Amino acid sequence: MRADFDELATIGATPEGGVSRPTFSASHIAARKWFLDRAKSAGLDARVDAAGNHSGVLQSRSPGSKRVLLLGSHLDSVPGGGRFDGALGVIAALHVLLAFKQAGTELPFALEAIDFTDEEGTLVGLLGSNALAGALTPEQLQSPRGGRDALVAGLQEAGLREELLFDARRDPSTLAGYLELHIEQGPRLEHDKVQIGVVTSIVGSRSFRMVLRGGAGHAGTTPMAGRRDAAVAAARVILGIRETVVRDFPGSVATVGDVRVEPGAFNVVPGLARLALEFRSADERELDAIESAMLARVRAEVDSEAVEVEVSPVARWQPSHLDPGMADAIERSAAALGLTTKRLASGAGHDAQALAAVTPSGMIFVPSVGGVSHDPSELTAWEDVVNGANVLLGTVRELARR
Ligand code: GLV
Ligand code: MN
Ligand code: MN
Repeated sequence: MRADFDELATIGATPEGGVSRPTFSASHIAARKWFLDRAKSAGLDARVDAAGNHSGVLQSRSPGSKRVLLLGSHLDSVPGGGRFDGALGVIAALHVLLAFKQAGTELPFALEAIDFTDEEGTLVGLLGSNALAGALTPEQLQSPRGGRDALVAGLQEAGLREELLFDARRDPSTLAGYLELHIEQGPRLEHDKVQIGVVTSIVGSRSFRMVLRGGAGHAGTTPMAGRRDAAVAAARVILGIRETVVRDFPGSVATVGDVRVEPGAFNVVPGLARLALEFRSADERELDAIESAMLARVRAEVDSEAVEVEVSPVARWQPSHLDPGMADAIERSAAALGLTTKRLASGAGHDAQALAAVTPSGMIFVPSVGGVSHDPSELTAWEDVVNGANVLLGTVRELARR
């Protein structure tokens, strides 16, 4: 497993020690091809669906078993990401299948190691898992996070057809469940010295694009008084958003993750600013409250600079609850291995949130050194990786016993 993990990490490797594999980039497509080739050469059936999800399948030897237990995660990364986010879950899934294959274990379901398309949201976010769950809508493809042009070009690069993406939907009655091993991406397990996290729920999130329109002007001749500087308004908006969430919504998070001003020169007062806003909470009603508070604050801040704002919603993910039965099975598996566990909610988004709507889903977390993620220095001790993979394997056995 380690050899495979390390080999995969060379695809899209960055000088900083991480990987950069944004959806449908050459490195992402190469990583997916590597995975499929590896699965095939190990004797698994290869499968690519209409949404580009890549799978290796171990058929069940039990006569009459028609369902499949999905084990997976994603091989795309954020730009300048780490080696573990997503890749760990796919590699561990592959090796769980290989372990059962080698042992010749008879299971009451087929096993499928699956790499979901565009989890990170370079283009849409949870594209492949939502398509499989039947939750993808044509509207989500019209104004996606990464922009419509990038989506159209990416689908073409990957050989996918937009109108067929929806065909990736699977009938829930064919699914036995979904399990995902992932790094925690936060500091709680490390802090509490716990080996395995058992995920109970995944936060919901909403994202918005904001365009601030002020007035461009000569940086030397436009008096400071009366300027309608879109960059200054953007700065106020960013600080206002932070203050609002910290003061009024403790436990929730809000981020302005992208800021661009135009025309963008030393000697021009910026006339336009484009911001990407995202906020997250485990509670749907709190998301409503944050949305109202944010929008009110944004308007107040831009007004004070005589700048106009246009806000457009981009994506909306509901908080999701993972299956308590799956959590029990994960805990039994960890206990049998003598590993310590803790139940926790995930502040990061995962394919499991899409799957949870249609099939019993569970997630296993392993500790992240320093809680760091979405960064090249992302690291999980190899011993913890092995623990996580063994818990995944043991959970499959627990489910097979039912
Ligand atoms: C994906 O990792 C996300 O939580 O945005
Ligand atoms: Mn991930
Ligand atoms: Mn991620």
